Amino acid sequence: MASISTKVGNFSIENPVILASGILDETSGSILRSLRSGAGAVVTKSIGISERAGYPTPVISEIKTGLLNAVGLPNPGIDNFVEEYKEFPEKKRTVVSIFGGSVEEFVTLSRRVEAAGFDKVELNLSCPHVQGVGSEVGQDVGLVEDIITEIKRRTNLQIWSKLTPNVTDIISLAKASEKADALVLINTIRAIGVEIYSRKFVLSNVVGGYSGPRDKTCCLAGCVRCLQGNREGYSWGWRNYNMGRCN
Ligand SMILES: Cc1cc2nc3c(=O)[nH]c(=O)nc-3n(C[C@H](O)[C@H](O)[C@H](O)COP(=O)(O)O)c2cc1C
Repeated sequence: MASISTKVGNFSIENPVILASGILDETSGSILRSLRSGAGAVVTKSIGISERAGYPTPVISEIKTGLLNAVGLPNPGIDNFVEEYKEFPEKKRTVVSIFGGSVEEFVTLSRRVEAAGFDKVELNLSCPHVQGVGSEVGQDVGLVEDIITEIKRRTNLQIWSKLTPNVTDIISLAKASEKADALVLINTIRAIGVEIYSRKFVLSNVVGGYSGPRDKTCCLAGCVRCLQGNREGYSWGWRNYNMGRCN
Protein backbone atom coordinates (compact mmCIF):
# COMPACT_ATOMS: atom_id res chain seq x y z
CA MET A 1 0.00 0.00 0.00
CA ALA A 2 1.27 3.49 -0.83
CA SER A 3 2.62 5.43 2.13
CA ILE A 4 0.77 8.61 3.02
CA SER A 5 3.15 9.53 5.81
CA THR A 6 4.21 13.16 6.00
CA LYS A 7 6.25 15.60 8.06
CA VAL A 8 5.37 18.82 9.82
CA GLY A 9 8.66 20.40 10.83
CA ASN A 10 10.56 17.50 12.44
CA PHE A 11 7.36 15.69 13.32
CA SER A 12 6.73 12.55 11.23
CA ILE A 13 3.11 11.48 10.99
CA GLU A 14 1.77 8.22 9.57
CA ASN A 15 -1.04 10.01 7.79
CA PRO A 16 -1.82 13.70 7.20
CA VAL A 17 -5.18 13.78 9.00
CA ILE A 18 -4.81 16.14 11.96
CA LEU A 19 -7.80 16.93 14.15
CA ALA A 20 -8.11 20.72 14.38
CA SER A 21 -8.18 22.47 17.74
CA GLY A 22 -11.58 22.73 19.39
CA ILE A 23 -13.34 19.77 17.85
CA LEU A 24 -13.62 16.46 19.76
CA ASP A 25 -10.43 17.25 21.66
CA GLU A 26 -11.58 18.69 24.96
CA THR A 27 -10.69 15.63 27.04
CA SER A 28 -7.86 13.11 27.09
CA GLY A 29 -10.45 10.37 26.45
CA SER A 30 -11.82 11.91 23.25
CA ILE A 31 -8.28 12.62 21.99
CA LEU A 32 -7.29 8.98 22.52
CA ARG A 33 -10.41 7.84 20.73
CA SER A 34 -9.61 10.08 17.74
CA LEU A 35 -6.03 8.80 17.54
CA ARG A 36 -7.13 5.19 17.85
CA SER A 37 -9.75 5.77 15.16
CA GLY A 38 -7.04 6.75 12.68
CA ALA A 39 -6.09 10.42 13.10
CA GLY A 40 -2.39 10.97 12.42
CA ALA A 41 -2.25 13.59 15.18
CA VAL A 42 -4.55 15.73 17.28
CA VAL A 43 -4.41 19.34 18.41
CA THR A 44 -6.04 19.93 21.81
CA LYS A 45 -8.72 22.49 22.54
CA SER A 46 -6.88 25.73 23.39
CA ILE A 47 -5.68 25.94 27.00
CA GLY A 48 -5.11 29.17 28.93
CA ILE A 49 -3.60 30.10 32.29
CA SER A 50 -6.89 29.91 34.19
CA GLU A 51 -10.09 27.94 33.97
CA ARG A 52 -12.71 29.64 31.74
CA ALA A 53 -16.38 28.80 31.38
CA GLY A 54 -16.78 30.28 27.89
CA TYR A 55 -19.90 32.06 26.68
CA PRO A 56 -23.48 31.13 27.54
CA THR A 57 -25.40 29.25 24.85
CA PRO A 58 -26.07 29.48 21.96
CA VAL A 59 -22.41 29.06 21.06
CA ILE A 60 -22.65 27.09 17.82
CA SER A 61 -25.08 27.38 14.96
CA GLU A 62 -25.25 25.34 11.80
CA ILE A 63 -25.80 27.42 8.69
CA LYS A 64 -26.27 26.33 5.06
CA THR A 65 -22.59 26.67 4.27
CA GLY A 66 -20.97 25.45 7.49
CA LEU A 67 -20.82 26.52 11.13
CA LEU A 68 -20.82 29.73 13.10
CA ASN A 69 -19.26 29.48 16.53
CA ALA A 70 -18.29 31.63 19.47
CA VAL A 71 -17.67 29.16 22.25
CA GLY A 72 -15.48 31.64 24.13
CA LEU A 73 -12.42 29.45 24.75
CA PRO A 74 -13.84 27.34 27.60
CA ASN A 75 -11.01 25.29 29.09
CA PRO A 76 -9.90 23.78 32.41
CA GLY A 77 -6.80 26.01 32.82
CA ILE A 78 -3.23 24.77 32.67
CA ASP A 79 -3.12 23.27 36.23
CA ASN A 80 -6.09 20.99 35.63
CA PHE A 81 -4.86 20.18 32.12
CA VAL A 82 -1.47 19.00 33.40
CA GLU A 83 -3.15 16.94 36.11
CA GLU A 84 -5.51 15.26 33.64
CA TYR A 85 -2.71 14.36 31.19
CA LYS A 86 -0.22 12.95 33.72
CA GLU A 87 -0.52 9.36 32.49
CA PHE A 88 -1.57 10.18 28.93
CA PRO A 89 0.13 7.67 26.56
CA GLU A 90 0.06 9.69 23.30
CA LYS A 91 1.95 12.88 24.13
CA LYS A 92 4.09 12.74 20.98
CA ARG A 93 1.07 12.65 18.67
CA THR A 94 -0.73 15.42 20.56
CA VAL A 95 -0.09 19.10 19.92
CA VAL A 96 -1.15 21.32 22.81
CA SER A 97 -2.93 24.48 21.70
CA ILE A 98 -2.37 27.43 24.02
CA PHE A 99 -3.67 30.99 24.17
CA GLY A 100 -2.55 34.01 26.19
CA GLY A 101 -2.59 37.77 26.27
CA SER A 102 1.14 38.45 26.57
CA VAL A 103 4.59 37.04 25.87
CA GLU A 104 4.92 35.97 29.52
CA GLU A 105 1.62 34.08 29.51
CA PHE A 106 2.60 32.19 26.36
CA VAL A 107 6.02 31.37 27.80
CA THR A 108 4.54 30.20 31.12
CA LEU A 109 2.06 27.95 29.34
CA SER A 110 4.74 26.57 27.01
CA ARG A 111 7.05 25.69 29.89
CA ARG A 112 4.25 23.93 31.73
CA VAL A 113 3.36 21.99 28.56
CA GLU A 114 6.99 20.95 28.08
CA ALA A 115 7.40 19.97 31.74
CA ALA A 116 4.28 17.78 31.35
CA GLY A 117 6.09 15.74 28.66
CA PHE A 118 4.68 17.18 25.42
CA ASP A 119 7.01 18.40 22.67
CA LYS A 120 4.74 20.50 20.45
CA VAL A 121 2.60 23.59 20.99
CA GLU A 122 0.19 25.30 18.65
CA LEU A 123 -0.14 29.01 19.37
CA ASN A 124 -3.71 30.21 19.11
CA LEU A 125 -2.97 33.63 17.64
CA SER A 126 -6.25 33.68 15.82
CA CYS A 127 -9.49 33.09 17.78
CA PRO A 128 -11.72 35.92 16.46
CA HIS A 129 -14.15 36.38 19.33
CA VAL A 130 -12.44 36.67 22.76
CA GLN A 131 -11.11 39.99 24.02
CA GLY A 132 -7.40 40.37 24.74
CA VAL A 133 -6.28 37.05 23.28
CA GLY A 134 -6.42 35.14 19.97
CA SER A 135 -6.51 37.42 16.94
CA GLU A 136 -6.21 40.55 19.11
CA VAL A 137 -2.71 39.33 19.97
CA GLY A 138 -2.16 37.55 16.65
CA GLN A 139 -2.68 40.59 14.43
CA ASP A 140 0.20 42.43 16.13
CA VAL A 141 3.24 41.50 14.05
CA GLY A 142 5.77 42.56 16.70
CA LEU A 143 3.99 40.65 19.46
CA VAL A 144 3.74 37.50 17.34
CA GLU A 145 7.47 37.64 16.67
CA ASP A 146 8.29 38.23 20.35
CA ILE A 147 6.06 35.38 21.54
CA ILE A 148 7.64 32.88 19.16
CA THR A 149 11.19 34.10 19.79
CA GLU A 150 10.79 33.81 23.57
CA ILE A 151 9.19 30.35 23.46
CA LYS A 152 12.04 29.17 21.20
CA ARG A 153 14.61 30.69 23.54
CA ARG A 154 13.15 29.27 26.73
CA THR A 155 11.91 25.81 25.65
CA ASN A 156 12.78 23.02 23.22
CA LEU A 157 9.23 22.78 21.95
CA GLN A 158 8.26 22.63 18.30
CA ILE A 159 6.04 25.60 17.61
CA TRP A 160 3.06 25.74 15.26
CA SER A 161 1.84 29.26 14.65
CA LYS A 162 -1.90 29.37 13.90
CA LEU A 163 -2.73 32.51 11.97
CA THR A 164 -5.85 34.57 11.59
CA PRO A 165 -7.40 35.26 8.19
CA ASN A 166 -9.01 38.42 9.60
CA VAL A 167 -6.19 40.72 8.49
CA THR A 168 -5.24 42.42 5.24
CA ASP A 169 -1.62 41.31 5.38
CA ILE A 170 -1.24 37.66 6.35
CA ILE A 171 2.24 37.59 4.78
CA SER A 172 3.64 39.83 7.52
CA LEU A 173 2.25 37.42 10.16
CA ALA A 174 3.87 34.49 8.36
CA LYS A 175 7.09 36.43 8.28
CA ALA A 176 6.78 37.24 11.99
CA SER A 177 6.42 33.48 12.55
CA GLU A 178 9.76 32.79 10.89
CA LYS A 179 11.16 30.96 13.94
CA ALA A 180 8.12 28.66 14.20
CA ASP A 181 8.33 25.10 12.89
CA ALA A 182 5.03 25.26 11.03
CA LEU A 183 2.26 27.63 10.08
CA VAL A 184 -1.34 26.57 10.57
CA LEU A 185 -3.85 28.20 8.25
CA ILE A 186 -6.51 29.24 9.12
CA ASN A 187 -8.63 29.90 12.17
CA THR A 188 -12.26 30.86 11.66
CA ILE A 189 -13.33 33.87 9.62
CA ARG A 190 -15.03 36.56 11.73
CA ALA A 191 -18.78 36.33 11.14
CA ILE A 192 -22.22 37.23 12.51
CA GLY A 193 -25.52 35.40 11.99
CA VAL A 194 -29.05 36.79 12.33
CA GLU A 195 -32.22 34.76 12.68
CA ILE A 196 -34.63 36.86 10.61
CA TYR A 197 -37.90 35.52 12.06
CA SER A 198 -36.95 36.07 15.72
CA ARG A 199 -34.82 39.10 14.76
CA LYS A 200 -32.08 37.87 17.04
CA PHE A 201 -28.38 37.25 16.62
CA VAL A 202 -27.77 33.52 16.49
CA LEU A 203 -24.78 33.52 18.87
CA SER A 204 -24.92 34.84 22.42
CA ASN A 205 -21.65 36.70 21.83
CA VAL A 206 -23.06 38.12 18.57
CA VAL A 207 -19.64 37.96 16.88
CA GLY A 208 -18.24 34.54 16.08
CA GLY A 209 -16.24 32.71 13.47
CA TYR A 210 -17.28 30.92 10.29
CA SER A 211 -15.84 27.52 9.43
CA GLY A 212 -16.73 24.92 6.87
CA PRO A 213 -16.30 23.97 3.23
CA ARG A 214 -16.32 27.56 1.97
CA ASP A 215 -13.38 28.63 4.12
CA LYS A 216 -11.12 26.24 2.17
CA THR A 217 -10.80 28.84 -0.59
CA CYS A 218 -9.75 31.51 1.93
CA CYS A 219 -7.40 29.00 3.51
CA LEU A 220 -5.75 28.27 0.18
CA ALA A 221 -5.50 31.98 -0.57
CA GLY A 222 -3.69 32.41 2.75
CA CYS A 223 -1.31 29.53 1.97
CA VAL A 224 -0.53 30.80 -1.51
CA ARG A 225 0.00 34.37 -0.31
CA CYS A 226 2.43 33.17 2.36
CA LEU A 227 4.35 31.18 -0.24
CA GLN A 228 4.30 34.11 -2.68
CA GLY A 229 5.57 36.34 0.10
CA ASN A 230 8.65 34.19 0.10
CA ARG A 231 8.98 34.04 -3.65
CA GLU A 232 8.77 37.81 -3.91
CA GLY A 233 12.02 37.99 -2.04
CA TYR A 234 11.47 38.26 1.69
CA SER A 235 14.65 37.34 3.48
CA TRP A 236 13.01 34.71 5.64
CA GLY A 237 13.68 31.03 5.39
CA TRP A 238 10.66 29.37 3.92
CA ARG A 239 12.74 26.25 3.46
CA ASN A 240 12.50 25.77 7.22
CA TYR A 241 8.75 25.53 7.03
CA ASN A 242 6.28 22.91 6.20
CA MET A 243 2.85 24.17 5.35
CA GLY A 244 1.60 22.34 8.38
CA ARG A 245 -2.00 21.88 7.52
CA CYS A 246 -4.91 23.25 5.58
CA ASN A 247 -7.54 23.14 8.25
C1 LIG B 1 -16.67 24.70 17.80
C2 LIG B 1 -15.30 25.14 17.41
C3 LIG B 1 -14.35 25.38 18.39
C4 LIG B 1 -13.05 25.80 18.04
N1 LIG B 1 -12.13 26.00 19.02
C5 LIG B 1 -10.85 26.36 18.69
C6 LIG B 1 -9.87 26.54 19.68
O1 LIG B 1 -10.10 26.33 20.88
N2 LIG B 1 -8.63 26.93 19.29
C7 LIG B 1 -8.30 27.14 17.97
O2 LIG B 1 -7.14 27.50 17.67
N3 LIG B 1 -9.23 26.96 16.99
C8 LIG B 1 -10.49 26.59 17.32
N4 LIG B 1 -11.42 26.40 16.34
C9 LIG B 1 -11.04 26.61 14.93
C10 LIG B 1 -10.70 25.29 14.22
O3 LIG B 1 -9.58 24.67 14.80
C11 LIG B 1 -10.42 25.54 12.72
O4 LIG B 1 -9.29 26.36 12.60
C12 LIG B 1 -11.59 26.20 12.02
O5 LIG B 1 -12.78 25.51 12.35
C13 LIG B 1 -11.42 26.22 10.49
O6 LIG B 1 -11.32 24.93 9.96
P1 LIG B 1 -12.57 24.10 9.31
O7 LIG B 1 -13.25 25.00 8.34
O8 LIG B 1 -11.91 22.91 8.66
O9 LIG B 1 -13.45 23.71 10.46
C14 LIG B 1 -12.72 25.98 16.67
C15 LIG B 1 -13.69 25.74 15.68
C16 LIG B 1 -14.96 25.33 16.04
C17 LIG B 1 -15.97 25.09 14.94
